[in-house]
Amino acid sequence: MRVLASAPAKIILFGEHSVVYGKPAIAAAIDMRTYVRAEFNKNGRIRIEARDIKTPGLTVSFSEDQIYFETDYGKAAEVLSYVREAINLVMEEADRQKGVTVSITSQIPVGAGLGSSAAVAVATIGAVSKLLGLELSGEEIARLGHRVELLVQGASSGIDPTISAIGGFLHYKRGSFEHLPFMELPIVVGYTGSSGSTKELVAMVRETYEEMPDIIEPILLSMGKVVDKAREILISELDEDIRFRLLGKLMNINHGLLDALGVSTKKLSELVYAAKTAGALGAKITGAGGGGCMYALAPGKQNEVATAIKIAGGVPMITRISREGLRIEEVVK
Ligand code: PMV
Repeated sequence: MRVLASAPAKIILFGEHSVVYGKPAIAAAIDMRTYVRAEFNKNGRIRIEARDIKTPGLTVSFSEDQIYFETDYGKAAEVLSYVREAINLVMEEADRQKGVTVSITSQIPVGAGLGSSAAVAVATIGAVSKLLGLELSGEEIARLGHRVELLVQGASSGIDPTISAIGGFLHYKRGSFEHLPFMELPIVVGYTGSSGSTKELVAMVRETYEEMPDIIEPILLSMGKVVDKAREILISELDEDIRFRLLGKLMNINHGLLDALGVSTKKLSELVYAAKTAGALGAKITGAGGGGCMYALAPGKQNEVATAIKIAGGVPMITRISREGLRIEEVVK
């Protein structure tokens, strides 16, 4: 038997950083996917083949505590911890230990803040659980994905695996999730090509907060209000063009506030302004900043905005919100 599953990347639409201070955030799944194929093997080992994970190819076998590197490339090794923990958790859940070969391909750049680790964990959980005959709900998959992140990273809000498992839009506040109604958003993601450290950026904001709470607190409060307003617009019955225009404005405000916190970079700002100049209704950092990605809302202007991002030195990705989270693509008996 062979199962192919896929899970999407995510962007934080609004509320990164302020979410760390108990304010709400809104994230969405986007139409870029990681594909995981799982099948039984005869040698009893867990074998992971990461053939195209947007870092150079890597094949590794695990048996007991031994790891066999068949090719060896740095960044990809991190991805494998997520895959390995995901397989272990599903086997525990199913109470079955079998030799399984898992092979991964991905459209999601690693280390860009697009949730590539959560997507690989969720797709692995989806493929291996199906292979072992476990029927898990979206919520159960999200919970297992969150446990994988906790095991590998030590800490996690659970936003990434939840959105990757369930898809669409997710409003998050202090540990509780609300699935918002779906709407099409024509967006362009711009990758700076470098990645900031989420841990360091969160610590940097914390330091500024402690040095001048009277100034930072109102910024965080405004960011929370931006998210409240965005939620109101997303669930409203307003015409699409009005919704786009208002969301674009909120994106610009949220970007300015993030810039005030010091998490933007020259490159991120250049991509944001290039996108706006090319006709985007709004553009902002998505994720921790310090590198990573921005995104722009660009109805009818996605190609122009993608070109502008490219000229400004970024990697553009034209995409849209993915209604679906984890998807079982194929089951071959
Ligand atoms: O680096 P990303 O895309 O996973 O985003 C981090 C979001 C922060 O709010 C900066 C940190 C957090 O844990 O919520």
